Amino acid sequence: MKNAQEVVATLLAGKKVTMINNNVATAFAPTNIALVKYWGKRNSELNLPLTSSISLSLASIGTLTQISVSDTAHDIFLLNDNLVDPTSEFSQKLTHYLSLFRPYFDAPLKIATTNHLPVAAGFASSASGFAALALALNQFLGFDLTATQLSILARLGSGSACRSLWNGFVKWEMGNQDEGMDSHGIPLAMTWPELRLGLLTVSSQEKPISSRKAMQCTVETSTLYSAWPKQVDNDLANMLAAIQDQDFLTLGTVAEQNALAMHATMLSSWPPILYWQGETLALVQKIWRLRNEGLPLYFTQDAGPNLKLLFLEKDSEVVQREFPGVGLVVPFAEAQ
Ligand code: PMV
Repeated sequence: MKNAQEVVATLLAGKKVTMINNNVATAFAPTNIALVKYWGKRNSELNLPLTSSISLSLASIGTLTQISVSDTAHDIFLLNDNLVDPTSEFSQKLTHYLSLFRPYFDAPLKIATTNHLPVAAGFASSASGFAALALALNQFLGFDLTATQLSILARLGSGSACRSLWNGFVKWEMGNQDEGMDSHGIPLAMTWPELRLGLLTVSSQEKPISSRKAMQCTVETSTLYSAWPKQVDNDLANMLAAIQDQDFLTLGTVAEQNALAMHATMLSSWPPILYWQGETLALVQKIWRLRNEGLPLYFTQDAGPNLKLLFLEKDSEVVQREFPGVGLVVPFAEAQ
């Protein structure tokens, strides 16, 4: 069984570090929202999942990361222009990730991250964050890796980050190798210009329990978890068919039911995990009421209280009227 350091060594075998000319690299990666979720790991050091998953990237919403050589003796991290406390969880995660690359360079780095969405609030900021970081390191150190190899590197930072290397629909193949070289994102060729996402912010506060800890607790204690891989298998097949056929009602139904099943496994864990807040429930009830009245509107929810609405362009106006302040996302803006 390989550890993360050995996986990086395998990917970088034979690569020479050629820091780029002016010692600055900048990269962007989009946030991705899973339509069929990843919840549970078979290897928690390498972030290898127990199931495959499918996501949709949010086009221009994501993370922009700039790497340069620090003019201090140690690494410094900036988040949205603010210096990050070196003892924070954010710093520790980044320091650990960078340590995987230390055998290849020793300069202290300055890493400046600009996030479009709140950090650690269930808006997948770590997904776009680690994908942008892997891309920026690849440029900065001149590794010249492929998108698939970068997807594997991004996964070592945060599992869902392996889907943020591409725009549009992405499938994360769980793979079955011990070292996970077959566990990475694969972009799906289909576009869907009429598809819309709506970001409903209930809270931008950091979540009470990280997805890493919550996943582990669910896998170890939930009495419902044994049903989850079967549910995901069915959902993956139905979601792929819905995307292929541009069948919105199936896409919405599968996405919403998959998210609810994931949250049900969490709730049956011990200690119980509940990311919902009162306002989350009120919004869900409003979505269900509108749907009963004939509006084709669905939601998905990740490890936080915020909701992501799924709907079609033709219903944009009513959705914006019913949910003032909703953040409208056009995932296939460039295809239009
Ligand atoms: O990659 P992580 O550790 O941030 O976990 C992501 C988990 C979910 O967002 C809830 C589901 C998913 O597939 O993105």
